[in-house]
Amino acid sequence: MDLNTFNLYLFGGTGDLSNRKLIPAMFRQETLGNIDKESEIIGLGSREISKEEYTQMVKNSLEKYFPSFKDNEEAWTRFGQRLNYIKLDISSSEDWKNINNIPKDRPVVYYLATPPNLYKQISTSLKENNLIEDNCRVVVEKPIGSNLETAQDINNSLSAGFDESQIYRIDHYLGKEAVQNLLALRFANTIFEKSWSNSAIDHIQITVAEDLGVEDRGGYYDETGALRDMVQNHLLQILCLIAMEPPVSIQSESVRDEKLKVLKSLAPFTEETIGINSVRAQYLDGISKGEAACAYIDEEGVNAENNTETFVALKLEINNWRWTGVPFYLRTGKRMHSKSSEIVVRYKAVPHNIFSKEASLKADQLVLRIHPDEGIDLKLNTKKPGVSGYDLEELPLDLNLHDYHELGHQDCYERLLLDVIRGNPSLFVRRDEIEASWKWIDNIINLWESEDVPMEEYISGGWGPSNADLLLKRDFRSWKNGSSKK
Ligand code: BG6
Repeated sequence: MDLNTFNLYLFGGTGDLSNRKLIPAMFRQETLGNIDKESEIIGLGSREISKEEYTQMVKNSLEKYFPSFKDNEEAWTRFGQRLNYIKLDISSSEDWKNINNIPKDRPVVYYLATPPNLYKQISTSLKENNLIEDNCRVVVEKPIGSNLETAQDINNSLSAGFDESQIYRIDHYLGKEAVQNLLALRFANTIFEKSWSNSAIDHIQITVAEDLGVEDRGGYYDETGALRDMVQNHLLQILCLIAMEPPVSIQSESVRDEKLKVLKSLAPFTEETIGINSVRAQYLDGISKGEAACAYIDEEGVNAENNTETFVALKLEINNWRWTGVPFYLRTGKRMHSKSSEIVVRYKAVPHNIFSKEASLKADQLVLRIHPDEGIDLKLNTKKPGVSGYDLEELPLDLNLHDYHELGHQDCYERLLLDVIRGNPSLFVRRDEIEASWKWIDNIINLWESEDVPMEEYISGGWGPSNADLLLKRDFRSWKNGSSKK
């Protein structure tokens, strides 16, 4: 790999995201020798601390969040030397003068690891202080708004300083190896494409289940809910990669163009369909990972009156030639049975069974596992060995990526940060994608309220409310529950 030369400015450089994700991601790249000695990482924060104190803080957090930190002394010596700290109270025009000497000979990355309500001020001040040149990029995290209007506000704030080509909106799911593998599976192999449509596929399921509850984020989550927190971004992005047409190139804008077309083809829910094709629910107490777990309304920071959903299941349709007639079932929830994310592609049954009626002939099933055991599992009908005719059984062609690669420590932020440095935006979400997805989500939220769609309940540690099962049962289908390999 070419050595990467850059200056990375971390706004919120002493905060949680920097400590837990961004610094460890850059440090791992340091241990791999992928960072040029000229590169600098500059933390910015409102605290009055020295460069040495900041370096010590970074060291403390690496000791906590980077598992083999102690074994990487040499890398730490190099890393420590590239760290710097600038005190910045963003409302102080004096403090902005502390940022100077922005290099022109390398990519300059401004990572806004701050609450979104600061984006506008940061973006405008960077502009006013002449800190934005063509070699500069800005990176932002979700939440990008809580509806279309607020997302537009945030996008406008960023545009106040930066051109759209300089704005990198992170969806960390796009940094996951298994998610990127969806593109490789579809567009680096010929065998799937011809059958990747309503001619051969019966339906597709996308599940992103988490076993954890809201942990210490009760306050944020209670204002957000599962639809905004997970569906608007991660699940819709996965759906786009599964459903999109082949892009012209992986490096260009064309991946984003194709994703946008999917978002624009999503059939909107209506007053008639919202109550039938969507389920929202909240977790009750129960047993999670062998231990008693409290109900959502008893979590810290949660206001029971907000009636926030921690689980969503949707049956949706994509109105285009490829997918008309193929339902996509999406579900996500907190405090479910286990942490398991996967895509299940169920094929249609063969048109005519030439075997005996007793032969258990199942429709083929392709499972794309994102977590755990990243991999691909194709279930096929085979003949059981024996002399008594055709007794069929379903057996797997199972590819576990861990059998071939050491995926253990790599974090999605590593790939994404390097893509920003290299100026490759294809795994980032463009303004029009964000706004198209909010438009579709806003409609669901409005209909949930206007049609009074009930808030169901589910027991912690289970697979969600019974109405989510009914969503498929009504169509004579069922969810594939559980950890991937079974
Ligand atoms: C975040 C959500 O975007 O994704 C969290 O805000 C969620 O609520 C997390 O827990 C899940 O990410 P992962 O990578 O652990 O599946």
